[in-house]
Amino acid sequence: MKFKADLEFAKTMDKNDPLKRFRTQFLFPKINGKRCIYFCGNSLGLQPVFTELHITTELKKWADYGVEGHFHNHEPWLSYHKLLKEGLSHIVGSNEDEVVAMGTLTSNIHILLTSFYRPNMNRFKILMEDGAFGSDTYAVESHVQLHDLDPEMAVIKLESRPNEFILHTEDIIAAIEAHKNEISVVFLGGINYYTGQVLDMEAITKHAHQYGIMVGFDLAHAVGNIELKLHDWDVDFATWCSYKYLNAGPGGIAGIFIHERHFTDRKIKRMAGWWGHEEETRFQMPKRFVPSYGADAWQQSNIPIFQAAALKASLDLFTAAKMHHLRTKSLLLTGYLLYLLQFVPKGRFEIITPLEDSQRGSQLSLYFENEGHKVFEELAKQGVVADWREPNVIRIAPAAMYNNYEDVYRFYEILKQILEK
Ligand SMILES: Cc1ncc(COP(=O)(O)O)c(C=O)c1O
Repeated sequence: MKFKADLEFAKTMDKNDPLKRFRTQFLFPKINGKRCIYFCGNSLGLQPVFTELHITTELKKWADYGVEGHFHNHEPWLSYHKLLKEGLSHIVGSNEDEVVAMGTLTSNIHILLTSFYRPNMNRFKILMEDGAFGSDTYAVESHVQLHDLDPEMAVIKLESRPNEFILHTEDIIAAIEAHKNEISVVFLGGINYYTGQVLDMEAITKHAHQYGIMVGFDLAHAVGNIELKLHDWDVDFATWCSYKYLNAGPGGIAGIFIHERHFTDRKIKRMAGWWGHEEETRFQMPKRFVPSYGADAWQQSNIPIFQAAALKASLDLFTAAKMHHLRTKSLLLTGYLLYLLQFVPKGRFEIITPLEDSQRGSQLSLYFENEGHKVFEELAKQGVVADWREPNVIRIAPAAMYNNYEDVYRFYEILKQILEK
């Protein structure tokens, strides 16, 4: 694509954008009375117009039918989680049985490690990123402590090469090789929250599986952002939150993926709850837990309906837009942003996100040596909602679902003018 640094070009791109109708399906906050440039979908996605209707429908069901809402003939609460499976499986590239919406991301990490991290005398290590999101580090370290292991010994942290921010696939593979007889689980962020780097999940999984190592991913920054093929890549387990690119609202219900090859493992350990028990006998409250088929067996509690309704509103849009179309647009949007960033004053920041298409999603991370926070504040004053990550990164994430080329162009103009000052 031959880009041009002018507003007319951006507007023409928008006119020809096959996904342009989806922008009208979202509510944009205003700054100084003007619609903001919202580039923060990697932190909290925007509210779809229909979310309110989906939630009020369930509120009304509750008002009109009380407990009978569980059995109502339209979308009964008892099986509401099933309504989300088609959308989720499309987004993560799985069978419907392999996914379920449940819980929250960090607690799901614990739930999944309970099943997939079964340390023994030889294999007791977890390989993760040194630069993982804090919550993942706390979850993994506290989890190994539950087995009376010392995180210093049991957690291997992958570091970037000196003066680099990203991880090289060959270094991840080399770390697996170096500890192939000791690693129990590889647990990585499919997309790193700080750098925006997309890991080669397929290659990592393939390599680790040669040695019987389990592989799981935190997909907080990947779901609804890039195309995923968790089933085909043979990933063992994954979890994500839904309030970022999935637009399910603050604290929205998270999700899990379990590869179907684990369904028949009768010995698999879980932190069970009644909602994971087989549906047919759940309400008979038998003494012995009988797992449901598939990822559903990992559910603990009945699903929070209002959060699930919000997720459903957004999944309907993803099903209509289709992930591969979103990804095509996303690469063009970030491609345009990268192109325009050539024309802003040099030397003040470095783009630490890898530039190759296969290694980046919607997010570009701008690393400032100095004054990054000042630039961030100035952007906010001028109507740009981006986000700041300590110690010195501004994350910019044009979301293919609702951002357009004009947003990217206007952002460039604002940034240029701030940096020229
Ligand atoms: C990569 C990553 N992991 C974990 C979390 C924690 O999510 P939660 O608070 O939903 O458990 C976040 C939150 O932003 C995140 O970005």
